[in-house]
Amino acid sequence: MHFSTSSVLAAVAAGASTVSALTGSLGDAPKTTGNPTDVVYEAKFSSAQVKSAYLNFTGAPDGNGVLVHVCVSGVNASTPGPYPYHIHDFVVGSGENCTATGAHLDPYLRNDTVACDSTAPQTCQVGDLSGKHGDLPAEAALDTPYCTSYTDDFLSLDASNKAFIGNARSIVVHNINKVRLACGDLTMVSGSASVAGAGSSTPSTSPTTSSTPAVSTGGAAVIGVSSLALTIVVGAAAMLF
Ligand SMILES: *[C@@H]1O[C@H](CO)[C@@H](O)[C@H](O)[C@H]1NC(C)=O
Ligand SMILES: *[C@@H]1O[C@H](CO)[C@@H](O)[C@H](O)[C@H]1NC(C)=O
Ligand SMILES: *[C@@H]1O[C@H](CO)[C@@H](O)[C@H](O)[C@H]1NC(C)=O
Ligand SMILES: *[C@@H]1O[C@H](CO)[C@@H](O)[C@H](O)[C@H]1NC(C)=O
Repeated sequence: MHFSTSSVLAAVAAGASTVSALTGSLGDAPKTTGNPTDVVYEAKFSSAQVKSAYLNFTGAPDGNGVLVHVCVSGVNASTPGPYPYHIHDFVVGSGENCTATGAHLDPYLRNDTVACDSTAPQTCQVGDLSGKHGDLPAEAALDTPYCTSYTDDFLSLDASNKAFIGNARSIVVHNINKVRLACGDLTMVSGSASVAGAGSSTPSTSPTTSSTPAVSTGGAAVIGVSSLALTIVVGAAAMLF
């Protein structure tokens, strides 16, 4: 609808205070509220290229946004930092091949043809954690974990919200060339599933592939078969509680 800039402006804006952001075809991400503080999602993983990665997500104390903790150590030093990382659309599955995680969580269909402008985080892909909050620095290559934490105003722990992160999603750590170094699934480790799984409209929190983002009529219809199946499993499990 109203995407306001070009990549040229985005580059120029790096040194200026000008906001130059690309709004998704379904609009900007709204701030989330009412995120439960007793629900925790976690991703814990390692690979030959990342000694350890640990992230957790829980409702901010006032419920506005989601508090994120990130600790990463031992990223393969042959790929110097910084290291971007994101929430991706699909779980890794059994194969440990990060390709299976698909694209970034992008419920407002913004895609990543123009880099996230961190001064206008509502315009960024919801799953673009490093775009909004900074890449992991070169120190993440050390044995001592590099840790950071922040509140992301646009993630949601509510299953009926498009920006819900509990819908069979994953985390991927990349090198600067976008190579996927390691990945792991986001799973609920504590909390009440009846809070986070309350939505019967779960399938509308669709997988958010960036392959068909420009078609404004296609938002709700862009539902991958495998993720829809996972969605239903998650939804069914949630109803048991
Ligand atoms: C990315 O999203 C923008 C904004 O909705 C759109 O203009 C552009 O065509 C999309 N690019 C691709 C490759 O889908
Ligand atoms: C989340 O991670 C941080 C940093 O590792 C840790 O201090 C905190 O205890 C974790 N929170 C939960 C609920 O596990
Ligand atoms: C680091 O990555 C490079 C390139 O993928 C690989 O050749 C090397 O074996 C890796 N080193 C370790 C310690 O895994
Ligand atoms: C991961 O999957 C992709 C796509 O199926 C494939 O091209 C690639 O070779 C696989 N990588 C590994 C390390 O198996």
